[in-house]
Amino acid sequence: MALLRGSGCSGGSLWLLVLAAACLLQRAQVKKPVRCPGTCSCTKESIICVGSPGVPRIVPSDISSLLAGGPHLPSLCFVLLNSNSFTVIRDDAFAGLFHLEYLFIEGNKIETISRNAFRGLRDLTHLDLRGNKFECDCKAKWLFLWLKMTNSTVSDVLCIGPADYQDKKLNDVTSFDYECTTTGIQNAGWGLNLSLIRASCQDFVVHQILPYQSVSVDTFNSKNDVYVAIAQPNMENCMVLEWDHIEMNFRSYDNITGQSIVGCKAILIDDQVFVVVAQLFGGSHIYKYDESWTKFVKFQDIEVSRISKPNDIELFQIDSERFFVIADSSKAGLSTVYKWNNKGFYSYQSLHEWFRDTDAEFVDIDGKSHLILSSRSQVPIILQWNKSTKKFVPHGEIPNMEDVLAVKSFKMENTLYITLTRFIGDSRVMKWNSKQFVEIQALPSRGAMTLQPFSFKNNHYLALGSDYTFSQIYQWDNEKKLFRLFKEIYVQAPRSFTAVSTDRRDFFFASSFKGNTQIFEHIIVDLSL
Ligand SMILES: *[C@@H]1O[C@H](CO)[C@@H](O)[C@H](O)[C@H]1NC(C)=O
Ligand SMILES: *[C@@H]1O[C@H](CO)[C@@H](O)[C@H](O)[C@H]1NC(C)=O
Ligand SMILES: *[C@@H]1O[C@H](CO)[C@@H](O)[C@H](O)[C@H]1NC(C)=O
Ligand SMILES: *[C@@H]1O[C@H](CO)[C@@H](O)[C@H](O)[C@H]1NC(C)=O
Repeated sequence: MALLRGSGCSGGSLWLLVLAAACLLQRAQVKKPVRCPGTCSCTKESIICVGSPGVPRIVPSDISSLLAGGPHLPSLCFVLLNSNSFTVIRDDAFAGLFHLEYLFIEGNKIETISRNAFRGLRDLTHLDLRGNKFECDCKAKWLFLWLKMTNSTVSDVLCIGPADYQDKKLNDVTSFDYECTTTGIQNAGWGLNLSLIRASCQDFVVHQILPYQSVSVDTFNSKNDVYVAIAQPNMENCMVLEWDHIEMNFRSYDNITGQSIVGCKAILIDDQVFVVVAQLFGGSHIYKYDESWTKFVKFQDIEVSRISKPNDIELFQIDSERFFVIADSSKAGLSTVYKWNNKGFYSYQSLHEWFRDTDAEFVDIDGKSHLILSSRSQVPIILQWNKSTKKFVPHGEIPNMEDVLAVKSFKMENTLYITLTRFIGDSRVMKWNSKQFVEIQALPSRGAMTLQPFSFKNNHYLALGSDYTFSQIYQWDNEKKLFRLFKEIYVQAPRSFTAVSTDRRDFFFASSFKGNTQIFEHIIVDLSL
């Protein structure tokens, strides 16, 4: 198929092309670098060519191959083909764009739409054909019937002929007894005056770039404000940012300095804000926000006799008691649970020895509290909270899953899922089936240190980091009950992905061990007609 087969030039007319779906371009870049046409300006997010004398060389083939790309474009849900000079839409013009929801073909010179042009557009909800006039003869009969049965909202379709129906609506045509001599499609000159915008109905766009590396990002709310605590090992800093409601960005609020900080985790207890600062050297500490100093001040040291290489801090609550656990990744270290006793946190229970834990995840399984520990040396193990002894006891493991760096849990429609991050091989998504975790999906991982589930406005996503190539964002497909690739983003050595929502806006922090920390915004394109 070739919706936009044209090349050639229409001299001097305004030429505008915007590719707003960065993913398309980036994916193309993985294969071969896309050269920016001389007359255009290109960024990672778009190609804009205004006033070009003709269609830039690279573009038509890229676009037709993009449109022909089918399965590579599962998330494309918005295509705008405005003010062109298309005259025909051919069979299967949008084949493979299963999730295309909005199709604008306004202001073209389309007279004929081939019978199977819209085949495969299962999710189409809006079709705009304004500004085109159709030959309402037998060739349009299928469109007449399609308009009657489709569930999509379709603009009025006007007729240019036959004479009886000129300027009337196709819907009002009462008979189609004109002879159809040609069933074929006219060979049209394809859009020389091309204006094409592609965007996803949901998308992630860069909102802010923080010019420093980071390994973890944590978010907390205090008195209607949203904060973010970022661990910056190279700058010996745990930087606290605050959302600025006026400037609409995140700005520096306070710095907690330390030594080789590997994690900053906020804990809120009765309106008080604490930040656990895990360090590789000099022990780990807890800071508390001091109202009168309007900054964080040291509150207590953490007993770390058995902790030497903290790798993850996880907070949890059991029966209104507050805990956190530090996963220790050194050989002789012990992952340790700490408990709040109204004065401070004290070491409460040491978990298993010699296992070099990389991550601890608190999970409520069927109303019972569990910890899942991942480690370099064995499959993830599950500990269960014993209500009478008030201690965690070994309860099981996730079999056949070596080399899991981290386990994260999330819920969708009351079902519990976990993700297992693996550096090489396949990371996994598993589901709790009331007896055990069963695999539902394997995601190929290339140097993944993090696989993070998150949700924005009923959209469920997974962000899979990669140290070697693009990181990938997957979106839950509720029909197929699987995650499908949604977008690729480039982050150098990603170490964590954190969702942060404020002022009804949704952000997504991508920490990078080697480059800038990036803040993406999750946007929903509002295309109400
Ligand atoms: C080309 O597009 C521009 C902007 O949409 C429009 O003003 C112009 O009339 C179009 N030209 C042709 C020949 O279709
Ligand atoms: C329109 O929606 C109804 C109800 O959801 C569905 O049964 C029907 O198959 C849909 N029609 C088409 C053409 O998709
Ligand atoms: C925190 O540190 C950063 C970088 O060192 C600096 O730019 C920023 O101004 C500091 N913020 C505060 C509130 O001191
Ligand atoms: C909790 O521990 C007690 C004492 O060791 C034991 O008797 C009991 O069976 C345990 N409960 C569960 C649910 O494992």
